[in-house]
Amino acid sequence: MKKILVTGGAGYIGSHTLIELIKAGFKPIVYDNLSNSSPIALERVAKIACQKIDFIKGDVLDKALLAKTFSEHNFFAVIHFAGLKAVGESVDKPVTYYQNNVAGTLNLLEIMQQFNVKNFVFSSSATVYGDPAALPITEDMPRSTTNPYGQSKLMVEYILEDLAKADKDFSIISLRYFNPIGADVSGTIGEDPSDIPNNLMPYISQVAVGKLPKLSVFGDDYDTPDGTGVRDYIHVVDLAKGHVSALGYIERQNNPFGFEPINLGTGRGTSVLELVSAFVRTTGQAVPYVIAPRRAGDIAACYASSDKAKALLGWTAEFDIGRMCVDTWRWQSNNPNGYKA
Ligand code: NAD
Ligand code: UD1
Repeated sequence: MKKILVTGGAGYIGSHTLIELIKAGFKPIVYDNLSNSSPIALERVAKIACQKIDFIKGDVLDKALLAKTFSEHNFFAVIHFAGLKAVGESVDKPVTYYQNNVAGTLNLLEIMQQFNVKNFVFSSSATVYGDPAALPITEDMPRSTTNPYGQSKLMVEYILEDLAKADKDFSIISLRYFNPIGADVSGTIGEDPSDIPNNLMPYISQVAVGKLPKLSVFGDDYDTPDGTGVRDYIHVVDLAKGHVSALGYIERQNNPFGFEPINLGTGRGTSVLELVSAFVRTTGQAVPYVIAPRRAGDIAACYASSDKAKALLGWTAEFDIGRMCVDTWRWQSNNPNGYKA
């Protein structure tokens, strides 16, 4: 059974990916400092997957513990989710973000080289495309970002490209996620923001459950069909499966292939108001909202071309917006306070 080191595996996307890895016959070992997650998530994953989850409480900034971990396991690959992800916070704490996301990744790569583990799947983001010149977004489009979080993702991509050029034994897939939402069908794991949510779907679901009074729709004067922002929402389970497909691609190659960026999106754009009405329609819950000014740094529209993921990985997203809403609501209504009792 191939062992996969999953940094950040207790988090939102990581916890869902553990289930898919186990289903596909891999043995995940989670390495997470729990700075933005709960050990309860791992207990629940263990229940869903009917097996114990190997867990090391550790920080990617702790090189000695990383080296110890690599000396104790023979990893086939590393999936690197560990990172900080709040855009606003990154503007206030750039050093923390660069330290965690860039220096943490450098530590990991250094130890991987030392232990000759050269298959790497990185959690990148559609944020590296900035304000795209055209839609749908293909992987060869120019990259730019406007905040330290985005910069940290872009910097890591540059580092990975240089590494792949210098060390021809590396196979690196940078998965550029669009907007993950939804939750496992069990309703026992899901996204658990530690504060008031910044992202749309957790905000909607917290309004629906009565934790927040109303949604502010940030702008209705964009150049989009209904004037509100358009994004490519993707079910987190589809996203998780994309990681298994990435490992499958690495396994199928006879030779290391260097650096390969791949979008994980559905290829479909949904506006803020469309998402709100899909949520109301599929869950029967009320979501009161007001139109508010645009949020600084937001773009009008962003959705993926998923052609490359299909061609290379044989992967396409399966779940539609309705299913994303229903699964989000099941998690939110069963766990109004997330993993907290
Ligand atoms: P998350 O915060 O739920 O998960 C990240 C996990 O990493 C957490 O469990 C956290 O405790 C852990 N972690 C953070 N810093 C660490 C460190 N120094 N050492 C060890 N563990 C550490 O976030 P998520 O939504 O699951 O995102 C996973 C990855 O995907 C992140 O790198 C994020 O930037 C990226 N991403 C997320 C989105 C999104 O919308 N959720 C979109 C694009 C990219
Ligand atoms: C945001 C981040 C992006 C990050 C992504 C995933 C910013 C500027 N961008 O992207 O870097 O990769 O999350 O974590 O923060 N909206 C509302 N009301 C709300 C919340 C959001 O109307 O309360 C709107 C936004 O204006 C946008 C859409 O909903 O049009 C989606 O917003 P969000 O979920 O925050 O995702 P992104 O803006 O794509």
